[in-house]
Amino acid sequence: MDNPPSLMPFLIIIIIITFISFTNHPTINTSDSNASTLPLQITSVFTLSIKMHSSTLFITLTTALGLVSAAPTDKTYNPTKTSAAPRTTHTVIAGRGGRLIFDPDNVVAEVGSIVEFHFNPLNHSVVESSFDTPCQPKDADSFFSGFFPVREGQSDEVFQIEVKDTRPIWFYCAQNNNAHCQSGMTGVINQNFDRQEFSLRAHKELAAEVEGPSGVQGGIQGGWRIPNPNPLGGF
Ligand SMILES: *[C@@H]1O[C@H](CO)[C@@H](O)[C@H](O)[C@H]1NC(C)=O
Ligand SMILES: *[C@@H]1O[C@H](CO)[C@@H](O)[C@H](O)[C@H]1NC(C)=O
Repeated sequence: MDNPPSLMPFLIIIIIITFISFTNHPTINTSDSNASTLPLQITSVFTLSIKMHSSTLFITLTTALGLVSAAPTDKTYNPTKTSAAPRTTHTVIAGRGGRLIFDPDNVVAEVGSIVEFHFNPLNHSVVESSFDTPCQPKDADSFFSGFFPVREGQSDEVFQIEVKDTRPIWFYCAQNNNAHCQSGMTGVINQNFDRQEFSLRAHKELAAEVEGPSGVQGGIQGGWRIPNPNPLGGF
């Protein structure tokens, strides 16, 4: 018979968090507080503590019990939100298996979720385009990851974007050495499946006909380039 899993490690974590949140509170400066405001400040600090404790306790316990949803991967990087609500992260591998592809290249991602690009060899990038003008940035605000020269395995950084609305997001690799975009290195997030004339297949056909070089943005923008949270992910 296995012993039931010990709760001891989680209790220790909770105690440490409790201690840190108490010691981190701004100290009450009694010299400029008078009798009427002091109890109020103590009360609000105490309430804040309780709030922090209950939310950290909740997170710790739900994480411990594995109740946090795990679809499809669960790296919850929260660059814009301070809330601790987990966000879904969709992983896309640029150049998987040494091929000129994004895998997957047809992503369905709910508003508010993150799409995280990992980079295999060679020297790939990801740029946002429009449906009808493949291999070119959509506009001055198009996201661009910069280039990721990789010799083997994965890049030590990834590029994340946030899905802000339900409109299709088209993207491509801007590497002109071997014409990656024209060779099939395009993809879409939230294709309109009711309009086959705007399908990924149709987009790839347009991309294959693009003459001349792909466009690049001036600099990294429209997302976050962060350390690879899963460098040994096996792709
Ligand atoms: C005491 O608190 C009141 C209300 O906030 C404030 O107006 C007053 O200046 C304070 N007195 C001192 C001595 O800090
Ligand atoms: C990666 O590709 C970009 C764009 O073609 C190029 O500017 C850069 O020098 C390349 N990096 C390496 C290390 O080959």
